[in-house]
Amino acid sequence: MDSAPPAPKDLTPKGSSPWGLARNTANYGDRDFALYLRRSFAKSMGYSQAMLDRPVVGIVDTGSDYNNCHRTLPDLVEATKRGVLANGALPLAFPTVSLCEPSLFPTSMHYRNLAALDTEAMLSAQPMDAAVLIGGCDKTVPAQLMAAASADVPAILLVTGPMLATPFQGERLSACTDCRRYWAAYRAGTVSDEKIAGIEERLATTAGTCGVMGTASTMACIAETLGMMPPNTAAIPAVLAERLRAAEDAGARAAAFAANPIRPSRIITEHAVENALRVLLALGGSTNALIHLTAIAGRRGIRIDLKRLNELSDTTPVLVDLKPTGEGYMEDFHAAGGVPALLWELRDLLHLDPIDVTGTRLGDRLREPAFVDRRYIRARGEPVSPVGGLVALFGSLAPRGAILKRSAATPALFETEARALVFDGLEDLANRIDDPALDVTERDILVLKNAGPLSPAGMPEAGYLPIPKKLARAGIKDMVRMSDCRMSGTAFGTIVLHIAPEAAAGGPLALVETGDRIRLSVRDRRLELLVDENTLAARRAAWHPPSIPARGWDRIVAEQVLQADEGCDLAVLR
Ligand code: FES
Repeated sequence: MDSAPPAPKDLTPKGSSPWGLARNTANYGDRDFALYLRRSFAKSMGYSQAMLDRPVVGIVDTGSDYNNCHRTLPDLVEATKRGVLANGALPLAFPTVSLCEPSLFPTSMHYRNLAALDTEAMLSAQPMDAAVLIGGCDKTVPAQLMAAASADVPAILLVTGPMLATPFQGERLSACTDCRRYWAAYRAGTVSDEKIAGIEERLATTAGTCGVMGTASTMACIAETLGMMPPNTAAIPAVLAERLRAAEDAGARAAAFAANPIRPSRIITEHAVENALRVLLALGGSTNALIHLTAIAGRRGIRIDLKRLNELSDTTPVLVDLKPTGEGYMEDFHAAGGVPALLWELRDLLHLDPIDVTGTRLGDRLREPAFVDRRYIRARGEPVSPVGGLVALFGSLAPRGAILKRSAATPALFETEARALVFDGLEDLANRIDDPALDVTERDILVLKNAGPLSPAGMPEAGYLPIPKKLARAGIKDMVRMSDCRMSGTAFGTIVLHIAPEAAAGGPLALVETGDRIRLSVRDRRLELLVDENTLAARRAAWHPPSIPARGWDRIVAEQVLQADEGCDLAVLR
């Protein structure tokens, strides 16, 4: 936060449209009766008439006993309400679907669109002049931004903020890059049962989202870059008092929206989306964020072209040195200057016309930061990498594209032609990957299929295929791996993701068999399946699509979900 919230003033919305509790009255065929009934029921909660005469700020409360990343929601809601009340509006908090990454089967991604649909419906149906959306864990922020973009209610995003790293035997630990690093070492036999149990106690010791530049933090930085949250609030750690002041400030600003609304349609523009892509690349951010940003932009009719992503990637340096690709944690990034410092470094690459929730043009808000810690936010002349973290690949194996996080990959594997070792799905992977008799060498390409958005697996973060145990124990730390699923933003390795069309949609990935040759060329942005057309045609004739679930959310997903290059949104929600 680098500017004061607006002072209390007359919030009476302009014009003759209904506002406050009078918005969206229930359809009884008698609008006055509907409002009378609404007031009467609201009074049963103890509100005075003076309170009910105020503009209304809805507060999306995603607190849940299943969501450790949202443990501070009660405090954040209270602080937000304080800001709303002090600035003359009435705060009304309400629950929506809450998604915690490790708590959901088959994967939280399967429910992102459900959370977006729920949030959009409640933003649109309930009476409110503005909203504060409180999220944090990976899928909640994208869902809330998708909802706000579609409902087009003036809204401010507030994140729970990242957890703090914890000292452990001379180093620091935080979820979840260190989880993966130590688990890989445990699988390789270099970490004992006792030590891995001790680490389990120390990986996540405070409230908040994962402490590295994983999906949650990447999406928070993207939300700030898009302009949907006030400047310098993306990275404030969850447990700092500053986080509560950000909540109070968000409440105050949302109250001010009653008289001067700024709708998401004015904020989420093509230029703002391109700025967000630049920041994603400069962060060395999560691959998941590309899917989410595509879905958010899609809600405003803006298409992200993966070929354009490659152009941006080739002209955007990685400047942020945080785990999983670097060394720092989110608390270091915030102390180092956060998103404002990064935007300042990238200023000549950015569009300067987008506005944010404060109504300020990016060009006007770019001021030289008072302090930048160069250990975590590099100068343009000394980047972590001269090119962006993500690259899109195309070819006969991925006609609509695939993604590689080159900043987290092994450059020696960038140009690889090798034999495929194929796993038909997650069960096949689990059953065979550690089989001592598995026919595999470190030069093979591990291929997982049937794990995309349309598959029953629901596009989980399983793209970080484990190195087969016998190779891990021989010291192999990376291999080329590829799939139609996703990878945690906290993971690393030479891993091709989001292959589109996916296997379950009948993409070429469905036809790959063990022993086929595959060529990966990061230099040429190519991913080729080196199998002749006649062989592929014979395999295609024998291929069957997965069966459609009988009912419920799974059926809606199976009939509606789009591919990764379209953000995996539901077709009816675009
Ligand atoms: Fe919630 Fe990582 S599990 S942000």
